Amino acid sequence: MKILVTGCNGQLGREIVKQLEIKKTKSEYIEVFKCDKESLDISNFEEVNTYILEKKPDVVINCAAFTNVDLSEDEVDLAYKINSLGSKNLAIASEKVKSKLVYISTDYVFKGDKKTPYKEDDTTNPISVYGKSKLLGEEYTKNFCSRYFIIRTAWLYGDGNNFVKTMLRLSEGKKEINVVNDQIGSPTSTKDLAVCVLNLINTEYYGTYHGTNNGFCSWYEFAKKIFKIKNIDIKVNPITSDKFLSKVKRPSYSVLDNFMLKLIDLDNFRHWEDALKEYLR
Ligand SMILES: NC(=O)c1ccc[n+]([C@@H]2O[C@H](COP(=O)([O-])OP(=O)(O)OC[C@H]3O[C@@H](n4cnc5c(N)ncnc54)[C@H](OP(=O)(O)O)[C@@H]3O)[C@@H](O)[C@H]2O)c1
Repeated sequence: MKILVTGCNGQLGREIVKQLEIKKTKSEYIEVFKCDKESLDISNFEEVNTYILEKKPDVVINCAAFTNVDLSEDEVDLAYKINSLGSKNLAIASEKVKSKLVYISTDYVFKGDKKTPYKEDDTTNPISVYGKSKLLGEEYTKNFCSRYFIIRTAWLYGDGNNFVKTMLRLSEGKKEINVVNDQIGSPTSTKDLAVCVLNLINTEYYGTYHGTNNGFCSWYEFAKKIFKIKNIDIKVNPITSDKFLSKVKRPSYSVLDNFMLKLIDLDNFRHWEDALKEYLR
């Protein structure tokens, strides 16, 4: 199987490549085309088209994205260029070579005013530029490619910049720290997500999925758990979002139900605390 991974130096991209390397050692025939921003800029249609038509991958896993939620509010054009148009470019080219296409989406496509976990068919209504640009990426993926898997995930951490590393860095030399307590979601390990992606691409179960670790917490509870596991003695103060200096509105509740994955028996996600413990070991 020939697999193209875009954004291969991002958190998820690195984990997908790592898992593919493991699969290769188990004598599965896999050829991986690893592309970072320099080798394949997904926002450049000609580049994407030429690359995919030449390599003819069986599967395209799109891990490339503009993921800075705050910066997206200022860099609106760039967010849409990468998250929406970049995804469209990949969808058009993937369709030409009849490749399967994986698009990773986000809990931020939802408004966050529900009180129970969002299912795949719940109404989307993003409240940030990032969420809107990712939702348009979903729509382009569906409209231009017939063999698509859209996987909405949330609060990702892995090999790269993420909340866990930020907390550990901020804790250095500090006695207390303020963390938002009125946004609820599901911290998700890139490892579990990568396993989910690699399971799905072996099927023809195309469609839209939610893929997050089980359980949920606030950022405050997430931070407390990180410090507890790492035995870091620091006081964590819960604060409300309006005290946190950010011009972006984030969903106050964006817990996702992996409903469709459960129906097809492919929900491999652990409880978020178990995945976090392994990550911090
Ligand atoms: N992180 C989260 O909490 C989270 C939550 C929900 C959903 N997601 C989604 O999950 C996916 C993976 O996220 P992640 O955390 O792995 O993101 P990440 O670590 O920010 O990685 C994204 C990668 O894409 C690259 N990239 C940016 N523009 C590109 C372009 N035009 N062409 C090719 N590559 C480009 C980035 O390179 P540079 O760094 O050099 O710009 C980076 O290596 C994304 O689709 C994201 O929207 C993430």
